[in-house]
Amino acid sequence: MAKAPATKTSAAVAAAPKVSAASKKAASSDGQASSNNRATPMLQPVLNQQFDAPAALQKFGTVSQRLPIGLDTDTRQQSVANLNQLLADTITLRDLYKKHHWQVVGPTFYQLHLLYDKHYEEQSGLVDIIAERIQILGGVAVAMAHDVAELTSIPRPPRDREEAPVQVSRLLEAHQIILKNCHEYAKTAADAGDDGTNDVVVSDVMRTNELQVWFVSEHVVDTPLVRAE
Ligand SMILES: [Fe+2]
Repeated sequence: MAKAPATKTSAAVAAAPKVSAASKKAASSDGQASSNNRATPMLQPVLNQQFDAPAALQKFGTVSQRLPIGLDTDTRQQSVANLNQLLADTITLRDLYKKHHWQVVGPTFYQLHLLYDKHYEEQSGLVDIIAERIQILGGVAVAMAHDVAELTSIPRPPRDREEAPVQVSRLLEAHQIILKNCHEYAKTAADAGDDGTNDVVVSDVMRTNELQVWFVSEHVVDTPLVRAE
C-alpha cells in the first residue's frame, strides 16, 4: 500500500536549512567565522514527489509539436503509433525468449538454451532502438509491462513449462506477427518520407527477425538424427 504523502508542514520542516553544531561552535569562537555566519544546509533528497505530482510533461500518444527534423507532425504521429506497436510486440517477444531460455527441456536443451538467450539479447537491442526512434520523433515510448501487455498483439503464453517444439512454434508465431507489421510499417514510413523510421524497421527489426526465424525454424524440421531414411 502506498504511503500517505508528506504534509506541507512536515515537508517544509524537513527541507528547512539547519545549522550544524560544529559551525555554531566555530562561529562563536572565531571572529573570522562569525563574519561568515551562514547556515549550513543539510543536503537531503526531496522524497515522495510522485504522490502529488503535477500534470504529466507529455501525454502518451502525443508528439511534440515543433521538432526541427524535417518531418511534419502527422507523419511523426503515424510513425510513433506504428513504432509503439512494434515496441510492445518486440518487448513481448524478447520476454518470450527469456521464458523459453529458462524453461526449455529435452535433448536439445543446451543449444536451445544458448540460442534463446542470444536472441533475447538481440531483441533487447531492438527494443532500445525502437524506443529511442519514438523519442527522436517527439513521441512517448511504451515501457512498462502492464502497458505492453495491453498493447501487444502477440498471444499470451501459459505460465506453464512446455515442450521444445511448442516453444519454437510460439516464437515463430510471434516473429510472423512482427514481420508482417514490419512490411506494412516500412511502406507507410517510406510513403510519408520518414526514411529514418523505414531504415529502423527494415535494417534493424526486419533483418534481425528474419534471421532469427531461420535459426529457430530449423529446429522443427523433422529429419533423422542418426540414420538416413
Ligand atoms: Fe541465463
